[in-house]
Amino acid sequence: MGMRLDRLLSELSPKMSRKQCRDAIRAGRVSVDGAAVRDPERKTDPEAETVALDGIAFSYARFRYFLLNKPAGVLSASRDKKQKTVLDLIPGIDPEKYFPVGRLDIDTEGFLLITNDGALAHELLSPKKHVPKTYHAVCRGVLTEEDCAKLSAGIDLGDFVTAPAKAGILRKGDTETVLFLTITEGKFHQVKRMVQAVGSEVTALRRVSMGGLSLPDDLPAGHYTELTTAEIARIRISEEN
Ligand code: URA
Repeated sequence: MGMRLDRLLSELSPKMSRKQCRDAIRAGRVSVDGAAVRDPERKTDPEAETVALDGIAFSYARFRYFLLNKPAGVLSASRDKKQKTVLDLIPGIDPEKYFPVGRLDIDTEGFLLITNDGALAHELLSPKKHVPKTYHAVCRGVLTEEDCAKLSAGIDLGDFVTAPAKAGILRKGDTETVLFLTITEGKFHQVKRMVQAVGSEVTALRRVSMGGLSLPDDLPAGHYTELTTAEIARIRISEEN
């Protein structure tokens, strides 16, 4: 596994020819994890090892993926003149290049992916891909299994009928019910509108997963973790596909 060091170096230094790369390696100017490597054919794993030329390390990760536990009160946007945005919570990344994958309402918390990978964002948001997104919704009043059946079957919201979903009761009290809802669409205020359509109201909403990737239990609101490509791939793995 891995990539030949001379090939990697030429990818990382587009101004150097393949021969210049090989010569630089043979001359001992290139190190892997701090140790000089003089073999141009040496296999390296650019995601796991640090490659440096003349002591200056390259950052190989062209695309980066952050999983943020979005707190309420922060806008799902890259920049805003007045309000704090989710990008403000990840120091050191350029808001010109990074963006949230989809939007959560300002008062919604939980799973939000932030990346500079436009193709992945497009894929995950495409209605055709049906990436399931699971929410926990605190709802006013007492909701029943019948309400969940209606939510699961698809519900007429006036301007559109929701696609089949999964809904169930997580906790039931005298004055509120906590539901889980897994939807494959992402229309504006969709969960809130679905819950309204069964006669209740969402008082707190949190997204807990997307595809096969869940928000870690130990990630507090306002904190983020950088994902590996293997973790990102789990988003595409779901029960549906
Ligand atoms: N549905 C909503 O109503 N709000 C969100 O933020 C996400 C899904």
